[in-house]
Amino acid sequence: MDLRKQLFSIKSIEMLHAEMASDNRLRRVLGPVSLTALGVGAIIGAGIFVLTGLAAHDYAGPGLMLSFVAAGFGCALAALCYAEFAAMVPVAGSAYAYAYATLGELLAWIIGWDLVLEYAVASSTVAHGWSHYFISFIGLFGIKLPTAITANPIDFDPVKQEWIATGGYCNLLAALVVLFITVILVVGIRESARFNAAMVLLKLAVVFFVITLGSAYVKTENWHPFLPFGYGGVLKGAAYIFFAYIGFDSVSTHAEEAKNPQRDVPIGIIASLTLCTILYILVAGVLTGMVPYSQIDINAPVARAFEARGLNVAMFLISLGAVVGITSVLLVLLLSQARILLAMARDGLIPRHFFGDVHPRFRTPHKATILTGVLVATVAALFPLKILADLVNIGTLMAFVIVCAAVLVMRRTNPDVPRPFRTPFVPVVPILGMLSNLAMMFALGWENWLRLFVWLAVGLVIYFTYGRHHSLLAAHLSAQTATPKTSRKR
Ligand code: ALA
Repeated sequence: MDLRKQLFSIKSIEMLHAEMASDNRLRRVLGPVSLTALGVGAIIGAGIFVLTGLAAHDYAGPGLMLSFVAAGFGCALAALCYAEFAAMVPVAGSAYAYAYATLGELLAWIIGWDLVLEYAVASSTVAHGWSHYFISFIGLFGIKLPTAITANPIDFDPVKQEWIATGGYCNLLAALVVLFITVILVVGIRESARFNAAMVLLKLAVVFFVITLGSAYVKTENWHPFLPFGYGGVLKGAAYIFFAYIGFDSVSTHAEEAKNPQRDVPIGIIASLTLCTILYILVAGVLTGMVPYSQIDINAPVARAFEARGLNVAMFLISLGAVVGITSVLLVLLLSQARILLAMARDGLIPRHFFGDVHPRFRTPHKATILTGVLVATVAALFPLKILADLVNIGTLMAFVIVCAAVLVMRRTNPDVPRPFRTPFVPVVPILGMLSNLAMMFALGWENWLRLFVWLAVGLVIYFTYGRHHSLLAAHLSAQTATPKTSRKR
């Protein structure tokens, strides 16, 4: 097929609907509460429990509360755009599938590859954050592990702008937790949803506990100066703790398993994001009110804030809750990653026999899950948290920008397709969504743009050497061109 035609070939809404009606789909078992729980399960994790420390300490100070407002604002706009698509085309591929239906195969590939960055690399980041809390938790029992097996071997020195050796061999704990979750995911979604619900309840309880108990220990003088690094610091902080919001979009990757996706997926996306935004702003207020920003711990900030005020039992409960809560994020992120790969494999852009293969007994995409688990574990064991988090953020922000743009395109190209949920105030919401998420991308600095481009370049090599030649859409369109007698819809 002609290259230019293929790059911009679009999967029609009719094709997506026909695919949804075919056999071999996932089971529709999730209602609005389970979807919201999956959203919260993916959202509250390493971002609030770990990344807040560095964000307050180095970027925003008490202005971290505003950073959460700014990042939440960008996410809310993107969420309204996601909700329109998720209700219109409730298939498993999330932003990848939406791009395929609007912007063509090449952009769909780019976004699918970008979502690997979002879900797989975020899983490594989260596993890393998990290990900090686990270390702080076992430390309460006097157990101290040698640095050789708790530290990633390499780190990036932002001052010298060079990679340095830390003296550690690997972050073994981060790798082990990923492998543990991988086994659970191979065994099945039903078990995963149950496991997730229990963990979500526990982590919400811990967050409420932090807010209620912590507010009694807030010293308002800690909030002065409120913006020690100015508004620039607030924006940098927003771009960094944006990570804490990642995950609401994962609700859309479960559209295919939703009982009533048109209504429930938008509810799941918006409800989980709203709840978490409120909780985050409150936690940021409590944390920066309990400890002067310059003394906030950057590894386990929330637990250490309580320890600093002599609240050791609270520290125990928070560390335990964080360990469990962050585990649930890992579960949902890894689960979503397998769903994205499945969608791409079904389109032939990555090897179908491997990534689309479903285990005969467990009915899960076991090969994709195991490969993802091993790679995520390796990255988590070797690379530093900050670099991983920044990379995930820039990639996810780019996906949000594209989804906002895609709403505008779709309103023009397919104005009449039924939209059970409509993004309000178009074009204002999508345009503001693009601008606010782009602003955070720029706040991440050129090193991260460079890393994003390298990532995308690797993706393009895979597309041009494999995906393009195996695309089922291209094969389908070529067959149509080759047999002009076949009756075709325009
Ligand atoms: N939002 C998720 C977290 O903070 C990825 O862990």
